[in-house]
Amino acid sequence: MRVRKAVIPAAGLGTRFLPATKAQPKEMLPLVDKPAIQFIVEEAAASGLESALIVTGRGKRAIEDHFDRAPELERFLKEKGQEKLAEELQRISELLSLHYVRQKEPKGLGHAVLCAQDFVGEEFFAVMLGDDVIEADPPALRQLLDVHEHRGGSVLAVLEVPREELGRYGIIEGEEVERGLWRVRDLVEKPRPEEAPSNLAVIGRYVLSPTIFEILRETKPGRGGEIQLTDALRVLCQEEPLYAYAFRGQRYDVGEKLGYVVATVELALRHPEIGEDFRAYLRGLCAKLGS
Ligand code: G1P
Repeated sequence: MRVRKAVIPAAGLGTRFLPATKAQPKEMLPLVDKPAIQFIVEEAAASGLESALIVTGRGKRAIEDHFDRAPELERFLKEKGQEKLAEELQRISELLSLHYVRQKEPKGLGHAVLCAQDFVGEEFFAVMLGDDVIEADPPALRQLLDVHEHRGGSVLAVLEVPREELGRYGIIEGEEVERGLWRVRDLVEKPRPEEAPSNLAVIGRYVLSPTIFEILRETKPGRGGEIQLTDALRVLCQEEPLYAYAFRGQRYDVGEKLGYVVATVELALRHPEIGEDFRAYLRGLCAKLGS
């Protein structure tokens, strides 16, 4: 059966972006003019999914408002002759059928995924993390779905990362079954570099078997006292096939300050409205810094 549903965890407190995230969700921080979470929802739609459940928490109302219709604003823009912008706003509300559930306590990524059990039911589904914005053609999630449709089983996105960054990710151990595709035998969440079984880091796109819910129910709090998705995946890969796929594309870690600024600069350079002027500005700045 075709994968139809995505789960988008968005309940985190955004502590790395305080004070910006004191009164607004980190998922709504814009990359130039588009909130980070819109990139994720657009990727889900472009990958052929039908619906998504956004797992939110307190203080995340702005996310729901963003994907809702805004009739007054649309009318105002139309009256001002800004038809295109009004249509763009409407398009955002029609990307996917969106659903929301609240994670009542921040008990970790595994717990957030478990909150989606009723929504997902007994089918394979996608998990998409908002901190990873990926520009790719075909979209990163589509690439994982192609692997799933071809091989069956669950699939994770992975990327080779430098040794000093291994401790920021789930790291896989596996054997390469095809160029860029590994059968996963084990995983470690945020290991010390000397303990990492490979340099292949899990990036926030997953296609998962519904078996993960039964496993998550039994998963005890792990690293950081949180229920870790990685711990449940360790069990899953003993019971069912789990693959890791080195997707092709440009990934930005917008969950930390430097990655966020890098993404903003690169997207600004390619932005149809301001790209050219921004490039000219950067050239001038580089010349000034170089002198
Ligand atoms: C989570 C996962 C980790 C994965 C990462 C990808 O960590 O626990 O396994 O590598 O997302 O971005 P977090 O970044 O939420 O700490």
